[in-house]
Amino acid sequence: MKRPRIILNIFSSVDGKTTTARDRNVTEWTAKGLDGDAHEYTNRLYDELNCDGLVSGSETLMVFGNHWVELDRPLYEPKKSKAYIVFDGRGRINWYQSDGLLVVTREDVSNDYIQQLKEKEIPYIQAGKGDYIDLHLALEKLYEKGFRRLGLNGGALMNGAFLREGLIDEVSLFFAPLAIGGSNTPSIFDGPELETLDDAAKLELLDMKKLRGGTVWLHYLVKQ
Ligand SMILES: NC(=O)c1ccc[n+]([C@@H]2O[C@H](COP(=O)([O-])OP(=O)(O)OC[C@H]3O[C@@H](n4cnc5c(N)ncnc54)[C@H](OP(=O)(O)O)[C@@H]3O)[C@@H](O)[C@H]2O)c1
Repeated sequence: MKRPRIILNIFSSVDGKTTTARDRNVTEWTAKGLDGDAHEYTNRLYDELNCDGLVSGSETLMVFGNHWVELDRPLYEPKKSKAYIVFDGRGRINWYQSDGLLVVTREDVSNDYIQQLKEKEIPYIQAGKGDYIDLHLALEKLYEKGFRRLGLNGGALMNGAFLREGLIDEVSLFFAPLAIGGSNTPSIFDGPELETLDDAAKLELLDMKKLRGGTVWLHYLVKQ
């Protein structure tokens, strides 16, 4: 199967939490000046890593829209990305902003949702039926559309699903100078527990940097 290379690029607290608590928009860290510029660094790195598309999970978009956080200056917008690709398997999102958007959904999603995408002229692909999008098939279709290097942008369940399917090739992490804690707080990778340690993804450190603002960057290759 030909698929784009997947580069997880995300920022978290030092304990690996990717937001304050469930249903909280992580942009509040940036708005309060607490993220050590990790959000901005993450956005800039998509271009340095030559990502031609960015991928997000549906819950991230729902939280973002329902718990809007205003910033006093806009964050860097990646220039090399041709599309913001949202995996909305259940067709939950009512889209109001469609510029540069590409939706991935299931083949058995409701007709109403497909109608919405058509009316708003939002490009979409369908991959798999049942509980979730078929991630392998979705990536194959994205490859056919010309995508070669996708930046995986969270949230936790989306990252965890890609991890379990062995679909992550590189891991880029910005650790902001914060400790959040919490047992149910979204983390870098969430999802079902591992059954055996043999299935853990083994990483090779490629690079690391201490950045201004107290943020630390680590870049790993996933050993196949
Ligand atoms: N710090 C950061 O860099 C960062 C980045 C992004 C988000 N966040 C934060 O993360 C939070 C949201 O994260 P979240 O984990 O709740 O949600 P999420 O990962 O954004 O959304 C869950 C996604 O996972 C999909 N999914 C779950 N299991 C799957 C499987 N086995 N196969 C295929 N797809 C599967 C769901 O599919 P369906 O659509 O079909 O349900 C859904 O698209 C927000 O608070 C946001 O602020 C932080």
